[in-house]
Amino acid sequence: MVRTQVEPGWSLDAWRGQARAALAAGVPPEDLQWDGGAQQGLALGASLPDAPEADTGLVVPGRFIELAAAVLCHRDANRHGLLYRLLWRIVNGERRLLERATDPDVVAASALAAAVRRDTHKMKAFVRFRQIREGEEAYVAWFEPDHWILDRVAPFFAKRFAGMRWAILTPYRSVRWDGASLDFGPGGVRADAPAEDAREDLWLTYYANIFNPARLNPTMMRQEMPQKYWKGLPEAALLPSLLREAGSRVRDMAEREAQQPRRKIPARAAAPSPASGDVGGLAEARAQALNCRRCPLWEPATRTVWGEGPEDARVMFIGEQPGDAEDLAGRPFVGPAGALLDRAFTDAGIDRAAAYLTNAVKHFRFEQRGKVRLHKRPDAGHVRACHVWLQQELATARPDTVVCLGATAASAVFGNAFKLTQERGRWHTLGNGVRAMATVHPAWVLRQPPAAREAAYRGLVADLLAVSSERSESLR
Ligand code: URA
Repeated sequence: MVRTQVEPGWSLDAWRGQARAALAAGVPPEDLQWDGGAQQGLALGASLPDAPEADTGLVVPGRFIELAAAVLCHRDANRHGLLYRLLWRIVNGERRLLERATDPDVVAASALAAAVRRDTHKMKAFVRFRQIREGEEAYVAWFEPDHWILDRVAPFFAKRFAGMRWAILTPYRSVRWDGASLDFGPGGVRADAPAEDAREDLWLTYYANIFNPARLNPTMMRQEMPQKYWKGLPEAALLPSLLREAGSRVRDMAEREAQQPRRKIPARAAAPSPASGDVGGLAEARAQALNCRRCPLWEPATRTVWGEGPEDARVMFIGEQPGDAEDLAGRPFVGPAGALLDRAFTDAGIDRAAAYLTNAVKHFRFEQRGKVRLHKRPDAGHVRACHVWLQQELATARPDTVVCLGATAASAVFGNAFKLTQERGRWHTLGNGVRAMATVHPAWVLRQPPAAREAAYRGLVADLLAVSSERSESLR
């Protein structure tokens, strides 16, 4: 038995060095004991010779490296050995092993990676920075991840909050950003992070105002925002009372006289809407779409919600239309359907930031009931009127893969005869060579009765997995 150790246990470089040395020495997986693994302490054996500095000539698929980077962040004590077994098999004749989705080692590693991606997603969503001192632009957040993900997620916060000075403390490790570099240090305790700050008041007021009791689904809410994270979230303190009052607030809404919607942005002068093909790049098209009057939906909506994502994204996801939250925020998929889509992306190994997300219809269609705006599906005329904008996005971004989320998006791309129930998950090639498929809309998953929801979600993830395996290099 040969022993080895990965320090720190989540480091891809550290694991890779040890795995390379073991391979070079010809040590089979069953003869290699990874410290921290299940057999720790059972056998004392020789140590692994130092990893050769020279290139071993080993080329492993990029997909394996991505998988390993995620798996290493899991707390599972056997992960180092599992990855080494996969690597051993890959370099010993099973080059396409990762494509065998039912292989027990592949299944086990994929499950660990999915758990890490979920944890990563939760951390991105639930970290809340608090100001250290009034007037000082420095912030601290406390977070308790399930896995060793701090090093993996820290660059995301550095990019997102590049102009702030901040630190994130977790029980096992901390990281500090000074505006230029990330500095990792020891873990902390919750009391090291300040409990409250002035900005929190603003956030709480905002949260209480956007909370829509008519949309309340406590089970889904607990799934998307698990209770274990509530203690770090300032808005969580509001939840018990908001949940308690939801019933009476909905009754009040239903009984209230219908009101004119309050506009969130000033009315704009009408601008001529372009004929198809009249517009230039994405920024110019977006500017023109802000004043679009091609159909009546612009009038009650707050704003045009344009697509977002890199202009050179290889994959474009198309939804139906912005919902209530998107109409207010001016961004696609930021409400409950967006939260579910984010989770499904994570489970399918898709990085949302690498894709372009847009909608077939760019204005929110709704029915006003008192203060509540109930989603109303756009009809074929709205989809037709908006088609010029979608075409413009397709023609400018020129993705090679298009994924339609739901029947409305599918009709905009494939035409009205397209039957989502029969065609979902199947690849088609559009006239311009673009690969396209349609799957269900995340809001449809949310509308399923509880007993059917999990299966509906798994179906969505399965279709997205087909997209990510076809376009893995463009989506991570
Ligand atoms: N549903 C959509 O189709 N698009 C969004 O942006 C949000 C919800």
